[in-house]
Amino acid sequence: MKKRCLVVTGGGDCPGLNAVIRAIVKRASKEEGWEIIGSRDAFNGILRDPMEIVELDNAAVAGIHVRGGTILGTTNKGGPFSWPVQDKAGNWIEEDHSAEMLRKLEFLNVSAIINIGGDGSQRISQQLFEMGCNIIGVPKTIDNDLGATDITFGFPTAVEIATDAVDKLVTTAASHNRIIILEVMGRDAGWIALQSAVAGGAEVCLIPEIKYDINKVVERINKRIRNSRGFVNIVISEGARPIDGSQQYLENDEIGHHNMRLGGAGNRLMHELKEAGIKTDIRVTTLGHLQRGGKPGAYDRILATQFGVKAFEMVLEKGFGKMAALRDGKLVAVPISDAIEKYNYVDLNCDLIQTARDIDISFGD
Ligand code: F6P
Repeated sequence: MKKRCLVVTGGGDCPGLNAVIRAIVKRASKEEGWEIIGSRDAFNGILRDPMEIVELDNAAVAGIHVRGGTILGTTNKGGPFSWPVQDKAGNWIEEDHSAEMLRKLEFLNVSAIINIGGDGSQRISQQLFEMGCNIIGVPKTIDNDLGATDITFGFPTAVEIATDAVDKLVTTAASHNRIIILEVMGRDAGWIALQSAVAGGAEVCLIPEIKYDINKVVERINKRIRNSRGFVNIVISEGARPIDGSQQYLENDEIGHHNMRLGGAGNRLMHELKEAGIKTDIRVTTLGHLQRGGKPGAYDRILATQFGVKAFEMVLEKGFGKMAALRDGKLVAVPISDAIEKYNYVDLNCDLIQTARDIDISFGD
């Protein structure tokens, strides 16, 4: 009987997921006796009745490395440890269905799992590993906030998209002598904002790791805008906050969606600037999910392909409980627990922060 490896994509999608899936299938097809299957919408495809499973062979994955999203679908709702069910009164509650899922995996003859996902998904990987599952993690997120790896695929493509947005906003800001604020994603890490601000040549970059003083931002603006002439481009992370404020969240009434949804930092900044006396016209653009959609850039396709091959080789070596990672340019296996323990904040002493300061980008501090 053939051995089966289950592939899962979980959490928010990100460019490069399909390239990982393709690489796993291609690498596995070089081995005798392996079959790759996928679960739809993270583990939810296994948990559903009837199960939703996809057979993944070379024909099924041909050419998908250039496509955005994931052919398996993904979700950040549900999962084995928080499966939403309605109680008798019709209220949504969550149940632990992990034992039932393990029984289903045994029935399917699954001998290994590759879970491609960010910190939430890798927390699930770790829990399943502790229950005895043969699981391997592959790191993904546009936020680049996972510890234990130098970089996650999806992040470089998101930076390209954000930089393209800065470039476009510069021309319209310059034509109108305006201040334009671009809000980018990243959760609690300012990587997308920092890199796109440097690449796009913004004057101000506000990130979650540095609480901003609105007066410092005003100072930087006034240095550039004189007698109503001049323009300013500001890149702000969705997780940025003023020294005396907290992060800005959106309402979230989606059943089973646990994550707090960040959003509104850009609009708040506009109001703060107006209150602080800025008279120049201000416009706010929120880049949102454009940063996650569309085809992966070349670097992400390459990194995702390397992670996919590495992950299947870790299956062959039975290196379970580990995650494929890139460390100092080398593909390595690291404990999943390391990846979820350490959040990858922007290091305020890193060279890029200094470079940004040296070219007069203000962090509002
Ligand atoms: O983690 C990736 C990410 O895109 C974050 O940058 C953002 O805060 C969040 O996911 C948005 O989540 P959702 O797709 O659920 O709105």
